[in-house]
Amino acid sequence: MTDPQRADETDFAVALADAARTVDMVIDRLIPVPEGLEARVFEAMRYAALGPGKRLRPFLVLAGSRLFGVSRRSGLQAAAAVEMVHAYSLVHDDLPAMDNSDLRRGRPTCHKAFDDATAVLAGDGLLTLAFEGLAQPDTHGDPGVRCELIAALALAAGNQGMVGGQMIDLIAEHRPDLDIGAITRLQRLKTGALIAFSCEAGAILGKAPHEARQALRGYAHDLGLAFQIADDLLDVEGSPEKTGKPVGQDAAAGKATFVSILGIERARAHAELLVTQAVAHLDLFDRNAEPMRQAARFVVERRA
Ligand code: IPE
Ligand code: IPE
Ligand code: MG
Ligand code: MG
Ligand code: MG
Repeated sequence: MTDPQRADETDFAVALADAARTVDMVIDRLIPVPEGLEARVFEAMRYAALGPGKRLRPFLVLAGSRLFGVSRRSGLQAAAAVEMVHAYSLVHDDLPAMDNSDLRRGRPTCHKAFDDATAVLAGDGLLTLAFEGLAQPDTHGDPGVRCELIAALALAAGNQGMVGGQMIDLIAEHRPDLDIGAITRLQRLKTGALIAFSCEAGAILGKAPHEARQALRGYAHDLGLAFQIADDLLDVEGSPEKTGKPVGQDAAAGKATFVSILGIERARAHAELLVTQAVAHLDLFDRNAEPMRQAARFVVERRA
């Protein structure tokens, strides 16, 4: 007899690999290396965006797009955009001025493989290209929908989202007094906002009804926080071999995280509770949302 949970995990792994392969094809097409001297920044962008990451955000975009009958082509445009913004955020996050990390996705970080200035430019290039990609007619025939998607990604990536969260994260290194409420807000901005965009992009492209969007928002809210708690746990309990990045960095920087405040066991229990809550938000979608349910379980069970 097959174990249903193992079968789900296998389905999910296959679907995640499929999302990774197809989104990488789109990103590959978006960053052809030219002949001129500027080729170096294109190489650095490719290095950062096509490295061996999980591609969870593209997976969520594609899973959400399927709920609303959005074409694969449209979904992939949005998936490539969010992955490029994510890759940019990692390149800048790893810079000496921020987390000063040498290892990312099992390889030297972008600034180690190239140099600091090229890494800054590669991040800038990826961020800008993400929006250029979304503006293309391939994303959606209706310019209003493209505009809505662009505005939503800008909000999630910018000072009211990821950038704002990264600012608080840097300040958190010198503020051991930050409480659980402040850390929750930090994590929702720094990681949750881009994950929320990934979950809602399909609803925007499919012009989904209000109720469905609300449900996805609830799912994304809990999933994003659970994802970052799992990342913080991996920083304490993981290994560079499995995660492909250094461990112990949060504690070394004196950063307040869910794990530093709650301890390992309570942080894990909190992440699991959030995943249960996230899945409950999907009730109205029946079996169609199974990939999103599987993604939620993956987020807390992952080792990388
Ligand atoms: C790492 O994100 C950075 C965080 C937001 C916690 P991922 O764990 O999704 O990294 P990749 O894309 O798989 O490398
Ligand atoms: C960074 O969080 C999240 C971003 C917005 C890039 P972390 O600094 O915890 O991510 P890792 O652990 O380096 O991947
Ligand atoms: Mg960081
Ligand atoms: Mg970091
Ligand atoms: Mg981390």
